[in-house]
Amino acid sequence: MSHSALLDVLKGRKPSRRPVWFMRQAGRYLPEYRETRAKAGSFLKLCYAPELAKEVTLQPLRRYDLDAAIVFADILVVPQAMGLGLAFAEGEGPIVEKITGAERVNALRPLDEADEVRLVCETVRLVKAELPADIALIGFCGAPWTVASYMIGGGGENGREAARVVAAARPDWYAELMDRVIEASATYLVRQIDAGADVVQIFDSWAGDLPGYLQERLVAEPIAAIMEKVRRQRPGVPIIVFARGAGAGHKRIGEITQAECLGMETSMPLGWAREVLSPAHVIQGNLDPLLVEAGGNVLEEGVRLVAGALPRERHIFNLGHGMRPGTPPAHVEQVVKDLRRLDG
Ligand code: CP3
Repeated sequence: MSHSALLDVLKGRKPSRRPVWFMRQAGRYLPEYRETRAKAGSFLKLCYAPELAKEVTLQPLRRYDLDAAIVFADILVVPQAMGLGLAFAEGEGPIVEKITGAERVNALRPLDEADEVRLVCETVRLVKAELPADIALIGFCGAPWTVASYMIGGGGENGREAARVVAAARPDWYAELMDRVIEASATYLVRQIDAGADVVQIFDSWAGDLPGYLQERLVAEPIAAIMEKVRRQRPGVPIIVFARGAGAGHKRIGEITQAECLGMETSMPLGWAREVLSPAHVIQGNLDPLLVEAGGNVLEEGVRLVAGALPRERHIFNLGHGMRPGTPPAHVEQVVKDLRRLDG
């Protein structure tokens, strides 16, 4: 049985090649995704239709020579499974029912019986059954800070600012909310692992909003609390922490979480990541998604510089953030081909 290059790197083995996958590798930039989404009726219906969600998870793998699939779902599955209203307005971001105080926090449901979780895990099971052994399956959840910022702010720019004030002021109910999100997220990851996820990634997309002195308390410690629960229940499953925008804070986040791998946002200098972080952590990232959209020589140069910054034993090639909806699929194919050529 062949090994997954991605798992090899995460487990400290020598990989046969430099592993690559892309955040938001399934999505609107692919015409076949748009077709399947139309069949489902909406993005959320697609997330909860396991056969169709399996299809969109596998679509990028049919086009490109990738080393991992990521289950098609959303970080907002967790708040929804806890009982909060969720909608996606066409062409806009998510709209989440807002938490305004202790009463609503106390009325949140534990995640165990949630249909949303059962359906995403069914997708994981279906994907796993079709995936070749050398392609890893990634499960995921949002980090407590990012998820709480949607639960408090309801989505959108101003919402994130409202959440920041609440988190800094720390009313009692914020601590209770964090505890519940931590518990739910750990349960959700364990369920995805049991359904077939080989690796899990924790997305803290809004880590960069916070002042540096709050990163430890609001980003690193809640993520570490999820990881402690997951590792106690399912030891040996590698965890990728993507605290987007943490900058130099990635070092402390790595120390506190002991993540096998740290994801780097586009702005991170990979030379710094190699020297300061890669002795202890595999590094994931961080090609500029804009260059993938642009294509041509700038893209080729970007791929060369990112791949050249780290040895393949310590690197998972990825973007610095999600694929942009306007990205031509041919450019993505070029990235993978250039990478394989450079690696050869
Ligand atoms: O291919 C994959 O990466 C797996 C699927 C995935 C989605 N969302 C599907 C999606 C993953 C891993 C996510 C994570 C996610 N969701 C994050 C963390 C990563 C990041 O981008 O920072 C966040 C913050 C969300 C919340 C969310 N979901 C937002 C803000 C939006 C609206 C913005 C947008 O891109 O449309 C979504 C919608 C969403 N999630 C889409 C997809 C494919 C687009 C929905 C559509 O119109 O089809």
